[in-house]
Amino acid sequence: MFQYYVIIFSFALLLGCNNSEKEAVDKSKCKTDDNLIPGMGEYMVQLDYHHQAMMTAIGDTNFKRVDFEIDEMDEVFEKIEHFHNQHKKLKQSFSASTQTFMLPVLNDLRRVVTRKNVDSCRIIFSKLSRNCNACHLANEVEFIKVK
Ligand code: HEC
Repeated sequence: MFQYYVIIFSFALLLGCNNSEKEAVDKSKCKTDDNLIPGMGEYMVQLDYHHQAMMTAIGDTNFKRVDFEIDEMDEVFEKIEHFHNQHKKLKQSFSASTQTFMLPVLNDLRRVVTRKNVDSCRIIFSKLSRNCNACHLANEVEFIKVK
């Protein structure tokens, strides 16, 4: 009888080991699976969301939220730079484009937000929207219009 227990116990151990080994393999597979990295279009949808949220926040004179959305946009830029800097649809690197079109305007916005000046926020925000569209034009997707 004791022998049976030993056999069953060993079997259980063996199964347990196998399972954890399999899990480890699957996890490492996930990490390297390119399909799990959002495409540039998906990051653009995120930018669009933050852009809309920013517009609403300016309308509500919710300066903390405006500031928050600037940081959120920055994070999306970093991700696009990391994963899609040389995307085939881009005429020049994403980092070079954001340096021209996005970063100076976002810095201006950051400055006026701390002064809580809603009119200046509005003016700079519309410049930001124009620059989203300028980059779309430069990359021949001008039919994607940001308002
Ligand atoms: C580097 C230039 C560049 C900048 C800056 C840029 N875009 Fe884009 N955007 C693109 C390109 C290129 C596409 C097409 C992506 C594709 O084909 O997947 C695109 C696509 C989009 C789309 C369509 C996504 C979809 O799949 O439906 C939206 C929405 C968008 N951008 C919003 C914005 C907003 C909002 C900003 C500014 C805050 C912005 N973009 C800034 C280059 C840019």
